Amino acid sequence: MAPKESIHGSWSSRWAFVLAATGSAVGLGNIWKFPYITGENGGGAFVLVYLFCIALIGVPIMMAEILIGRRGRQSPINTMHTLAIESGHKPAWMYLGVMGVLAGFFILSYYSVIAGWSLEYLIKAASGVFTGQTASGIETLFGDFINDPKYLLLWHTIFMMMTYLVVARGVKSGIEKAVKILMPALVVLLLVLIGYAINTGSFSQGVSFLFNPDFSKLTWGAVLTAMGHAFFTLSLGMGAIMVYGSYLPKSASIAKTTFMIASADTIVALLAGLAIFPLVFANALSPGAGPGLIFITLPHAFGQMDGGVFFGTLFFVLIVFAAWTSAISLLEPVVTWLVENRGMRRATAALTSSITIWLFGILTVFSFPSDSPIKFEFSFIGETKTNGVFDILDILTANIMLPLGGFFIAIFAGWFMSRDATRDELDMGDGFDFNAWRFLVKWVAPTLVLIVFLNIFGII
Ligand code: PHE
Repeated sequence: MAPKESIHGSWSSRWAFVLAATGSAVGLGNIWKFPYITGENGGGAFVLVYLFCIALIGVPIMMAEILIGRRGRQSPINTMHTLAIESGHKPAWMYLGVMGVLAGFFILSYYSVIAGWSLEYLIKAASGVFTGQTASGIETLFGDFINDPKYLLLWHTIFMMMTYLVVARGVKSGIEKAVKILMPALVVLLLVLIGYAINTGSFSQGVSFLFNPDFSKLTWGAVLTAMGHAFFTLSLGMGAIMVYGSYLPKSASIAKTTFMIASADTIVALLAGLAIFPLVFANALSPGAGPGLIFITLPHAFGQMDGGVFFGTLFFVLIVFAAWTSAISLLEPVVTWLVENRGMRRATAALTSSITIWLFGILTVFSFPSDSPIKFEFSFIGETKTNGVFDILDILTANIMLPLGGFFIAIFAGWFMSRDATRDELDMGDGFDFNAWRFLVKWVAPTLVLIVFLNIFGII
């Protein structure tokens, strides 16, 4: 039997949940990753596939994840175990939770390193380093930075400590309050940057890159990346949203909250794209520059604009906060499991997992410096990857583990849970069509994921 309340606490209202889940969803994925993978994959057609995946795969699976979490009220591993037994199926479904916890572990190990870049850039912005720099000067600055493991390691350490501190205290009041102020501020700042981008002269080129689909550039590899990113950006497929759902009051409408979270997340990503690509073209930078893209385009813009030191500092503060609220949700499934199954106190569980993840993150730190002994190149479905372990972890989690996790979550909610159980969680008389959701989660979402996977592995 699932407990009535989670032993880890509960949100004070459905708004608290919406904020926390939006905090989880909106992160480096929107501001750092979405622009650079869009750039690498040719723009418009990629964006269209991404939006399509958000609507037809992401939204129904997010609802499934929240409802499963709320029904099980425990860590993802134990929730899957309880619900599988409740509906008369094998407890082996708990391995879905295990894969999720593992994915969270891998993601956080590199996420923290990139969040560390933002901390460094926050200091750089505040000290006025960007002022008056040429685009190539800014590129050199970035190259020098990622070649120096000392600083990468220092910031990685600081960011993991920040994450540990919040999770150790329990998620409730700290994150709720911070997110309420920070998310609107982030949107306002993105609008300021778009305002700047409009005036640099290449705005229409940026818009057309983002929204004019050129399907000749669309490979199956790009489709996989777009689909994987839909999972990554909505924090789906690994239990983060499930665990947040386990703290959700029974009276809250899952359909409405999902709609709000997914819309906010998509809007922030598109605003980030609109701010960045005009600057890429105006400065003759390459859209395919890779993970460094926003650390080159934006500092250059801040260096040229009036008040750039102020806006630049503020912007990196917001990125750090966005990354922070996501990192917390990456750690939470691991911590709840350690508390429930290993009898640890929350603080001890948070410390143990943070240290292990930090150690693992060192592999990512050494994926970037050009003289690093563990930097290597490899090719993945026809694309050359140059950043060793970082690229491997990124592909393994975003392109494989999250879609696979999401696939099984959809299968579980659509085929293994009883219709009545899901209906009990979802049908709130809020005008939402339960049968449409069930069709999407039973047929559409799993089929689409399967088609992409089968294509990648050359089976169809
Ligand atoms: N959604 C977060 C982002 O876009 C990353 C994340 C993935 C967080 C998976 C939790 C779980 O940055």
